[in-house]
Amino acid sequence: MNFNKLTNKHIDKLISLIGAENVYQSEEQRVKYGSDETEDFSFPPEVVVRPQTTAEVSGIMKLAFEYNLPVTPMGARTGLSGGALAVYGGIGLSMERFNKILKIDENNLQVIVQPGVITEVLQEECKAKGLYYAPDPASRGTCFIGGNLAENSGGPRAVKYGVTKDFVLNLEVVLPNGDIIETGANTLKNSTGYNLTQLMVGSEGTLGIITKAVLKLLPYPKHNLLMLVPFKSSAKACEAVSAIFKAGITPSALEFMERDAIVWTIDFLKETTIKIEDDVEAQLLIEVDGNNTDVLFKDCEIIAEVVDKFEAGEIMFAESEAQKDALWFIRRRVGEAVKSNSIYKEEDTVVPRFELANLLKGVKEIGKKYGFTSVCYGHAGDGNLHINIIKGNLSDDAWKNELPKGIKEIFELTVSLGGTLSGEHGIGYVQKEYMSIAFSEIELNLMKSIKKVFDTKGILNPGKVF
Ligand code: LAC
Ligand code: ZN
Repeated sequence: MNFNKLTNKHIDKLISLIGAENVYQSEEQRVKYGSDETEDFSFPPEVVVRPQTTAEVSGIMKLAFEYNLPVTPMGARTGLSGGALAVYGGIGLSMERFNKILKIDENNLQVIVQPGVITEVLQEECKAKGLYYAPDPASRGTCFIGGNLAENSGGPRAVKYGVTKDFVLNLEVVLPNGDIIETGANTLKNSTGYNLTQLMVGSEGTLGIITKAVLKLLPYPKHNLLMLVPFKSSAKACEAVSAIFKAGITPSALEFMERDAIVWTIDFLKETTIKIEDDVEAQLLIEVDGNNTDVLFKDCEIIAEVVDKFEAGEIMFAESEAQKDALWFIRRRVGEAVKSNSIYKEEDTVVPRFELANLLKGVKEIGKKYGFTSVCYGHAGDGNLHINIIKGNLSDDAWKNELPKGIKEIFELTVSLGGTLSGEHGIGYVQKEYMSIAFSEIELNLMKSIKKVFDTKGILNPGKVF
């Protein structure tokens, strides 16, 4: 890529656009904005800018377009595929000052929101009005809606309610040349032309910068029940997952955690309320929600009957809101616990739900072949398995040179099972070399052509996806 380096002339123009206080040039700030949650990568941008209005974003993009400067859009930088890493330096465009919920429309069950709003803040504001924004990535307490849109994030509730894309009605977007567009309409249905809204969702900040989103809301479900189900066999735990749906139940969450995932997290959090028996290989965390508790108790009975057929141990029902919170707290911190334990690489494979047991079995076999262990957990109801490959005693050489072959095999297996590379973390910087496993050259060229239409100079989030 043939980009220009930033000069004082560019910096002066940025300052005149958004004010000196919103243009960070110090080494310390650049390093801070140079990393996200992906492994230990550090790619400091040459400058960090913090616009507050769509017009300002447009002005920045016009400048970048004119002078051929790479721009990396950034949210809360909680991503796990390196989507917000400024791999070519240039301008780091932080959307953190787009932090307003503009309107909660209680008549239409919609919310108009800026991309720098923290997901949990949006959820809580909606909940206060009896409304539900369901997508809830594990990082919801810190991640931004904009990042969720860029990566098409999911989380535990996706299994019943869908992922971020299923809640997006309309977007305001600044294109790489500075033009401002609206992608759709604020309607639940829309058969009007190509679906630019859904093209933008999950495009990882490579096609445009989302400056406003209109999202769908649901009535908040009044009740939920949560249970933790232990299994002696991970394979049986995986097999139980699709059987629960076949029995006519759609849980509002159906999470899988291998023994180490939950035990490491309990240790990490110094949590004392939950004890995992020695012979337990995996757990399912299952939630049902709705407005009628009788129905929910009946659902739980059916689930208990199903898991019993897969040799489940004694089910722990959360008896209080505090206990539910404790279980969810553990589940949401698994990623962090694994990260604190070892150097690791995280894959975000997803397969049709029934293939989950085959995926897990295959991952362990590939691990044996290449000498790595893995801690697996994830959104089993979606067939979405987070495979955390642990460096442990693996030599630096094996980690660097052999492991990519093992990862390639994992992805080949995933695709052969009808699945794909990423369910919710995106391709970003770290998975792009594997894209040809999921797509043919024709398909990849089509995507690259789309990128070119939006971004003729290739200045927006270069080095990502392809
Ligand atoms: C989770 C994140 C890593 O499910 O996606 O915890
Ligand atoms: Zn996840």
